[in-house]
Amino acid sequence: MTDRAVIITPSILSANLGKLQEEIESLESAGADWIQVDVMDGHFVPNLSFGAPVLKCIKTRLPLDIHLMVTNPEDRVKEFLEAGARNITFHAEAVASTEARRALIQAIHTEKATVGIALNPATPIEDIQDVLPEVDMVLIMSVHPGFSGQSFIVEVLDKVRLLRTHHPDLMIQMDGGIDKETAALCCQAGANNLVSASYIFKASDRAEAISTLRGV
Ligand code: DX5
Repeated sequence: MTDRAVIITPSILSANLGKLQEEIESLESAGADWIQVDVMDGHFVPNLSFGAPVLKCIKTRLPLDIHLMVTNPEDRVKEFLEAGARNITFHAEAVASTEARRALIQAIHTEKATVGIALNPATPIEDIQDVLPEVDMVLIMSVHPGFSGQSFIVEVLDKVRLLRTHHPDLMIQMDGGIDKETAALCCQAGANNLVSASYIFKASDRAEAISTLRGV
């Protein structure tokens, strides 16, 4: 338990897509704070998922958080912003130069959305120092991105501790392998936004699963 409020962000990657709107409504009534849409291009990660047309179909009062696991994210942000994205997170590994990162952050902020930058498990915090003051959130991946249902990589917690020590007010999101036990570790390390797919969607009581992840 920490004093920090924790945002719970279910990822629809594990939803029953045949009844997506019902799934969204179930997450709303279960107490979710944000909803994450994982966008995979089959190139940056070895899987394909959703495009902006799917986002346009979702009706929700909750903020839509777009996790872009794509090569050349700058080519994609406009369509997701137009489709209703409230936050867009791109991968540091996909945008190498500071100049390109700054341009992308500015393009998202101009449309009144917030920006996250994501780090794969092997990417150190030093790789995002150039734009850290300009982003609204850092996403520390606790699995190799691409699939739900993988095991939590405990070593990434060191990055969360380091970030939290130097940035007490930063939104730190974690994603991958988050369940009752690992959520507690994430929060103790300083995370305040937890993404979860399989733990929430497999639960017989989603409200209870979300409360458990929140640590209350
Ligand atoms: C992984 C995705 C995650 C994933 C999490 O590439 O970014 O959001 O769906 O799934 P679980 O919670 O099952 O590890």
